[in-house]
Formats: sequence, structure tokens, C-alpha cells
Amino acid sequence: MCGIVGYVGARPALTIVLDGLRRLEYRGYDSAGVAVLGDGELLTEKRAGKLANLEKALGERVPAEGIGIDGGHTGIGHTRWATHGGPTDRNAHPHVSTDGRVAVIHNGIIENFAKLRAELESAGVEFASDTDTECAAHLVAAELADVDAEGFVGDGAARLAEAMRRVCRRLDGAFTLLAVDTRTPDAVVGARRNSPLVVGRGDGEHFMASDVSAFIEHTREAIELGQDQVVLITPAGVVITDFDGAPAQGKDFHIDWDASAAEKGGYDYFMLKEIDEQPQAVAETLLGRLSETGQIVLDEVRLTDQDLRDVDKIFIIACGTAYHSGMVAKYAIEHWTRIPCEVELASEFRYRDPVLDRSTLVIAISQSGETMDTLMALRHAKEQKARVLAICNTNGSTIPRESDAVLYTHGGPEIAVASTKAFLTQLAACYLVGLHLAQVRGVMYADEVGAVVDQLQQAPAQLTEVLAAMGPVRQLARDLKDASTVLFIGRHVGYPVALEGALKLKELAYMHAEGFAAGELKHGSIALIDDGTPVVCIVPSPVGRGMLHDKMVSNIQEVRARGARTIVIAEAGDEAVAAYADHLIYVPRTPTLLAPLMTTVPLQVLACGIADARGNDVDQPRNLAKSVTVE
Ligand code: F6R
Repeated sequence: MCGIVGYVGARPALTIVLDGLRRLEYRGYDSAGVAVLGDGELLTEKRAGKLANLEKALGERVPAEGIGIDGGHTGIGHTRWATHGGPTDRNAHPHVSTDGRVAVIHNGIIENFAKLRAELESAGVEFASDTDTECAAHLVAAELADVDAEGFVGDGAARLAEAMRRVCRRLDGAFTLLAVDTRTPDAVVGARRNSPLVVGRGDGEHFMASDVSAFIEHTREAIELGQDQVVLITPAGVVITDFDGAPAQGKDFHIDWDASAAEKGGYDYFMLKEIDEQPQAVAETLLGRLSETGQIVLDEVRLTDQDLRDVDKIFIIACGTAYHSGMVAKYAIEHWTRIPCEVELASEFRYRDPVLDRSTLVIAISQSGETMDTLMALRHAKEQKARVLAICNTNGSTIPRESDAVLYTHGGPEIAVASTKAFLTQLAACYLVGLHLAQVRGVMYADEVGAVVDQLQQAPAQLTEVLAAMGPVRQLARDLKDASTVLFIGRHVGYPVALEGALKLKELAYMHAEGFAAGELKHGSIALIDDGTPVVCIVPSPVGRGMLHDKMVSNIQEVRARGARTIVIAEAGDEAVAAYADHLIYVPRTPTLLAPLMTTVPLQVLACGIADARGNDVDQPRNLAKSVTVE
């Protein structure tokens, strides 16, 4: 939530910061702004709306006397998802101190901002915005003045870092802050508590950003920062301390993402590209995790086999799409391991005081690894002594760092705000965890595990088949563009798929959509069905769990009898459903538990197509942001 970029080096900072913001715009797009230091002057520009508005304003700007905004070599930039203060020009970041010396950008929420603002106002500071961030700009300027007056030993950069540390000690809440000082033109200082910030190491230049995609085209060497750290970048180096000034270490890592993974590559939308990348993404999740003998190998899981044998209860915590993958995982994990497994919305988890102890395994699922609700639920679980396993797509992010073990999904960067490939890779990772637990605990025989593994390994090729058959779904999307509501029904693992289909449609098409357990519909919600109401029906395989299939067919008949237009997603060869389907979409045969890997894809394509037909911004739907770093 909110994208942050900082640069210091020999190249024009404005170009580098704007490029970085373009790559981070998915994190928030209410407004955007930049500040560049040139010739001891602070040059800022900020605009409400998308980054394009800022770029237009910069294009129209006549270079001021001297160096001009495009000539400085130190800069910061921000793309915002509004929390305090509406998305207006004045609330856009950077915020500048009254003396014009310091510019600050911020991601997160400063919880004690009202108190700080009152204090600053009573000292005569006039605020130019409604944001919590502006406090930080005034506070850094005030601390800098004190540091200078005290004769603090160190150059300008060291003094800026000291001022930032003093401010951080006064702030409550979650924040990533970057600041520049006109008197120190070759330095950017950053700080982080509970919000993301990574450093990029270059040759005579350094970067800071909310995530590595902002600087991936310039460097592959990055530094992961710890909690409550202040980092100073200059062309010569990187200095990290804690908030009290004690030296601290970051963790160096190499970024192995292909830079083109963060480009549209000829697609109209990132979402379309990411949908098409799913066969490869799932293959990456499985890669190296399945041994030739059918054993599941989870290298990054630092819990011992004995730890896993001691588990007597599992909680899965996650939000949104990741929560739906957790719902699917519950069916698989309970079936394979016989360990009771609950799935909880991370935002609710800690507030209901769940019963946890050392033998509880908490699985935190998060694409970004930064979702605040999930992070807080994880911390609560750890306080109760539970063991935490993270399933995450983003290397070095906070959730895996704070977990006892991590299984990375290796899906590559997901830029579109609506999750697609992250969902499928989370499913694949959850299946691996379930099979691994079953194996370690001796609940499944090796040949049983091997049979599921074989099926999993076929998923990438089967997904390619699904994607090749999406033409009719795209046509259907155009037909449905004016629908006022679309309902989704499913049973067993088809139920979370129905919820996921409805979520995709709501967030992308701004259309009323709801997912139901098909058997529950008759207990009230069936009243919603009117003549022509589209109902998407996820049908379980007729093989193996025939009873479930037959029940679903009855549910389809029930909605059809009430006038529904049925869109049926069924397994290839399932002829029994054809008579009740106004539109029939077949997906390849898979064991029931793995079916969500197939049945979700048409729903993604449908939502994307409807949103496009309605003229919506598919990659950046209104009101949303990727990586939700506030509670
Ligand atoms: C929906 C979507 C969100 C995220 C949720 C959790 O398409 O993307 O519902 O799934 O905000 O995000 P992560 O997985 O980053 O924790």
C-alpha cells in the first residue's frame, strides 16, 4: 500500500524515480509525487490521480532558474493509497517542512499523529495538508535543527540519519519513511517499522523502494532490512542502524526475478499476462519439491519432523484471495493428515482470542508477505507459542521473515492488483504442505502420496489446455457486461472457488457478485434468483465423489427452475450436466481436491473480460491497492 522510491547516484534522479513509480503504481494510485534535490534546492511536484497526471504536470513545468527538476541526482517519489486525508493534490506526498528544508514520503499510518500535530501547531507550525505524514516532515526538520545546534559529530548525511532516528522514536504505528534534506544533496534516509522497505545496491548509486520491482532494471543486489531500522544511502554506501543508533545489519540477497516479468510484454493488461503465466508459475512452485521417489521435499521448512508430528491443530490465516486458497487447503489438509484445520480471516483472528499453544501450527498465506492483518495475526500466534509456517511469494518480506518456516511459491512478480497466479501457486504450495505433513506423520502411504504428486505434476500442462479453450468465456464476458448481479455456487472445494470467482468480479467489474455453498442457497439466498440471473456453477468430478456431483446437479436444477441462466464449469466428459447448462465450460479431469487449480481459471478470465467490456481499469481497480499494509 503506497509505493515508495528513493535514489542517490550520478544519474538523473527524476527519470529513475518515475520509472520506479511506474512499476510500483499497483500499490496505490490515488495520487503521486516526487521531490528532487538539485543545486541545493528542493524541487517537488505532486498530483491527485494516477501517475500519468504527475507526469503531465512535470512535462508542462518550465525548468526553474538553475538546475531544474530533471537535473538533480537525488530524489524520492511516492504513489499513494489514501488513509489520512482524501486523495487531493495537497494531500499527495512528498510533504515539505515549513522551512522548505526537508521533504518526506510515507507508507503506513502514524497512529499518534493527532497528538503530534497538536503539539506542532501549538509551537506555531502551519499544516498544509490533512495527512499524518506531514507531522513527520516538520518533526524531521525540527530534529535536524536541534542536531545542528547541538554540534552533533558527523557530516550532513549522518545528521539527517540522527534526526530521522529521533523522529522514529516518537512515532507510533506502522511506517516506512524516506526523507531528503536540501543541505545534504547526496543522501536519502529511510526508516521502517512494520511497513516494507528494501535497499538496492548499485555501483556508485543506491536505491530504496517498497519492493524490488522498482529498481530491478538497475540492480539485482538488494538488502532486506529488519524491523525498526534506519538506513542511509549515499552514492558511496549504505549505513544501517536501529532507532537508537546502534549499528545494524541488513540481509543481502540476490533478486532472481527476470526484469521482463514485471513488464506487460505485449499484453493489454498485467492481469491477462499473469493469467497466462499460471502454468509456468505452478510449475515453479512445484520445482525441486518433488523427489524422484515421490517424497515431498520442503527445504525452507525449518520445523523438524518431530515438530510436525507434534502438531495437533492447524489454523490457516490469510485475507481475500489468499484466504480462499486457505479454504481449499483445509479440505486437502484435513483429508490427508486427519489434523483438525481451521481457516480464519486474519483480520478477525487475534480479536477472538483463539486457543493456541506449542502444538498448534499456524499457516500464514500471503502473496506480498506484507499484509498487515496477516502479520498481526501471525504475531499473535507467536505470542501464544504456536509455530508459524508462511506460504509467500515475496522473498525477504516481513511475514516470512517473522515465521518459523517459509515455503516460497516462486510465482514471480504479480503486478495486477487482482490476484490470479498467486492464488494458483498458493494452492500448489498448500497441497505440498498437506502431503508433507501426511508423509511425516505416516498417515498416507508413499504410493498414495506418489499418486497425488503425479497428478500435481500434470497441472501445468492441464492449465495450458484450459487457457487454450477460453475463447467462449471471453465471448460470454461480453454478453454479461450489463448484468446487475452474478451468483457463484459450488460444493466442497468448489465453494471457495465460487467465493474467489465472486471476489474477482466485484473487485474488477464493480458488479454485485456473491459466492455460496450450493447446498446453502435454498436456506434463503435463492430468493435473489430472478429471470435470467447468471449463476456460475462449479461442478465437482463425477468420479470418486459421485454423491457430491449428484447433489450439485440437483442444485443447478433448483436455480434453473427459478429462471437462472446457468454457466456450468465441469470436468471434461461430464455429460450429466449438459442438459442443465446454458453455457458449458469443460476443464481437464483432476482429482477433486486439486480441481480448484483448473476451475478457477475460467472465473478469472470471465471477471477480466467483464471488467474490460465495462471499460474499467483491469490492472488498477478503483479504491484498491496491492499489498494492504494497514489494518
Ligand atoms: C484479491 C486480492 C486480495 C489479496 C489480499 C491478501 O484479488 O488480491 O484479496 O489476496 O489482500 O494479500 P496478500 O496475499 O498479499 O496477503
